This record gives sequence, structure tokens and C-alpha cells, in this order.
Amino acid sequence: KKAQILLDTHRTISEISHYIFGGFAEHMGRCIYEGIYDPQSPLSDENGIRRDVMDALKELNFRSIRYPGGNFVSGYNWEDGIGPRENRPVKRDLAWRSIETNQFGTDEFMKVCAELKTEPMMAVNLGTGSIQDAANIVEYCNLEGGTHYSDLRIKNGAEKPYGVKFWCLGNEMDGPWQVGQLSAEDYSKKAVQAAKAMKLIDPSIQLIACGSSSSLMNSYPEWDRIVLEETWDQIDYLSMHYYASNREEDTASYLAYTREFEDHLQTLAATIRYVKAKKRSQKDVFLSWDEWNVWYREMNGNGEWQQAPHILEEVYNLEDALVVAQWMNVFLKHSNVLKMASIAQVVNVIAPIMTRRDGMFKQTIYYPFLVFSKHASGQALSLHVASDQYETKKHGLVNLLDASASFDASQNEGAVFLVNRSQDEELETEIVFQGRVPTSVRVAHQLAGSDPKAHNSFEEPEKLTLQTIEAGEIKDGKLVLKLPALSFSAVVL
Ligand code: AHR
Repeated sequence: KKAQILLDTHRTISEISHYIFGGFAEHMGRCIYEGIYDPQSPLSDENGIRRDVMDALKELNFRSIRYPGGNFVSGYNWEDGIGPRENRPVKRDLAWRSIETNQFGTDEFMKVCAELKTEPMMAVNLGTGSIQDAANIVEYCNLEGGTHYSDLRIKNGAEKPYGVKFWCLGNEMDGPWQVGQLSAEDYSKKAVQAAKAMKLIDPSIQLIACGSSSSLMNSYPEWDRIVLEETWDQIDYLSMHYYASNREEDTASYLAYTREFEDHLQTLAATIRYVKAKKRSQKDVFLSWDEWNVWYREMNGNGEWQQAPHILEEVYNLEDALVVAQWMNVFLKHSNVLKMASIAQVVNVIAPIMTRRDGMFKQTIYYPFLVFSKHASGQALSLHVASDQYETKKHGLVNLLDASASFDASQNEGAVFLVNRSQDEELETEIVFQGRVPTSVRVAHQLAGSDPKAHNSFEEPEKLTLQTIEAGEIKDGKLVLKLPALSFSAVVL
């Protein structure tokens, strides 16, 4: 089978925002407790932070991490999680039917972010929380001192303000599962007033309004239109949430999921354009895909009220990693409207890292995220892709090749990201360079295997890992790659 890419570094789409390489850490299952924070683990430091997990998170180089939820935030009183640990109340978390000890809270999260050199993206509670609570946490995090909450932060050990730039106005407020669910109109009213109070405290913050929690909601995309129209003047981003699944066990269609991602993104981008035109507005609102990942096998727990229950602990296989890689291709292709994204989540709960008390392993999806986070920078490029195709039940004929590319003029470095969707055939792919022709391949990485269901585990932690491959030479302005079936490759030029 064959494919060809025409690549011209002049044909740019938009600058790639590095905030598309974000994560999400929720007080949920074993993401925080037993994931990032586990004082009982021999692998933790004196503050209870897992050193091995921190090393893996550093490698992924998240540019932002969203916190503390998720559904959790809609019933969370952030003041429960600050101050001396022995005084913090134990509460029921209604979202996940868990016991929340509050031993980890805002200050601990900020320390983790500082060590990871990542920006915190805080969500405020617009479910059970008040406008005042939302303003108070901005005061706690961002004011120098001299007021009640900023002085409280100093008393709790943080002399300098955290300077949190990104704030989510609630979470999935359209969902019947959300504690404090609201209609689009009521949510917008509350969000506008919370935004007003938060910006009166710190006018420099950027706000993310809740878009639809999924494209399957009956209110989608009307919810998004209403929220955009009502909150437009206050917000900077509209959130998108999306989880992919292969419930039908139809790998051919699953590997063509990009059709659905693009459809969702383009619908919301069009809604933004519509509202901008209707308002005769000069400002722009961008998209924040702040929950995205594969999630369909491991759902909620047994309903017992427990601490850190084992919930949503998806084990990711090769086909999932290929979907994640293609999702990130979509991010690059739509870099003009998509300026933030957070993979849900970072540890244990639908995450690239899985822990137990005495160790961890990297899941298959770890690797495509790593490669994009490291090499996709500068401008996203508009590629011309011609490819042999294959038949799918859901999407009809689909290209065997899925690709995106970036070029960073400041580093004089480019990268091409390629997925061969074929389950059994090699794809000979010719990259024809137009304009700037690179002299050689700096490095090429590949994740590949013959079994789409193969996965890593504690027993076999490196069954599937990233390999460095020989990509060959650039001759006459062309590079020919032989992409194995079921593979993700990245060529750095
Ligand atoms: O990421 C898991 C959950 O999925 C989040 O708490 C919620 O926002 C979404 O429904």
C-alpha cells in the first residue's frame, strides 16, 4: 500500500499553543491519593509525593494541569483542603461516592505544579459553591497579601502568590450527574457573576466556560451557543469534553475516529464564529479540549463509600495509543482554534501512568503524548495527503495514512507525525519536501505492534514502548518511509 505527503513549511495553519499539552488531575479514584500523593508508599518523599510518578510526569512535560475536578469540584469546598492537615475535615465526595480526606489540597497541588514547571488550571465550584467562594480562591491564590485569604495563604506557608492564570467556571454543568446541574441560561448567569467577581479580584486571569459535556447530550450544541452568547464578554475559552470508545469491538472504524473528533471540533468552532459575528465582536474565544482520552471499559465502582477506590483504571492497548496519536494530529490540524487541551487524566484514572504502592508502569498512550509534547512546536503545517484507503463500517472509505506536521523556525526543526491505520499491511509513505528541504532525519520514533489489543502491565511493563528507528535518507527532496501496520511514527527533521 502507498501514500504520499506534500510538505511545504510555508503552508502554515497556525502557531501551536503549547497549552495543548496539558493534563488533568482530579480528586477521583486513585489519581491524587495513591497516584501523586501516597505517604504509605516506599517510593514517596517526606511530603508523601511519589517520586517515580513525578519523574514520569516531568518527562511528559505538561504545560498546564487542570485541578481539582471534574465532577468532584461541583461539591468541593476548597477551604477544606488548606491549613494544618490534622484540622482538615473528612467528607463524602458525592460525585464519585468516595471518602475525601482532604490531606491533599490547593497548596500541595501548587507545589507539585511548581516542581513540574507546569501552570495550574484551577476549576471553581459552580455547583454547590457560591460566587463568593470562587472569588475567595482567586484571592487566596493570586493576591500578594494584606487581605484575609491572601494572608491565610502566607500563614499556610506560601509567601508568594501562585499567580494562577487559567480558571474553569465550573465543570460539565449541563450533566444530570453533576451536583448542582443548571440549565444553559442559569449556568451562564452564575458564570458571568462569578467571572465578574473573580476578575475584580484579579483582572489578569483567563476564564474557561463550560461547553457541552459531550456531543451526545440532547442540548448539544445549543448549550454551547447559549453559553457563548451570554458569557462572551467574560470568557477566553469554551471547554470541550470527549471520550472515545471501541465498545463495538470494530477496530477498523475505531482507528478512523478522527472523523468524529474533527466533526465535534468544527461544530464548536463554527458556533464560536456564529456568536462572534452575531455580536459584531472584535475579540476571539478559543477552544479548550480540557477532557479528552479513550474511556469505555472501566466505569464507576461498586457504590461503596471508600477512600481512593479503584475506578476508571483503563488499561490502554496499542489501538488506543493509535487513536490518541491521531487525536493529537487533529489538535495540530486545528491549531487556529484549539489553544488548550488536557488529557484526562494524568495518573491511574484513565491515564498514561498506572501505579501500585511499590511501582508504576507507562501505558501505551504515554508514548504518543510524549512524542508530540516534545517535538510539536512552532507552526502546524497544512499537508497534502494522498493515500490508499480502506473500508470501515462507520465511516466508509478512509485513508490508511493519518498525518500532521509542525515546523519551528526558531529551532529550525520540523516533525512529521504518522499513523498507519492498516491492521495488516505496510504503508510505503513518500514525503515530498517543497520549499525548505531538510538535509537529514535527526531522529525517528515508532510505536508499533501486530496485536491491536496488546498492552503493558506490571508483569510486562515494556511490552510496547517507543523504538528509535532508522528512517533512511532524504534524496532529491524526498524521504520514503515504510510504516508497519498498526504503527505511530514521528520523524524529526
Ligand atoms: O474525567 C472523568 C470525569 O469525566 C470528570 O470528572 C467529568 O468531568 C467527566 O464526566
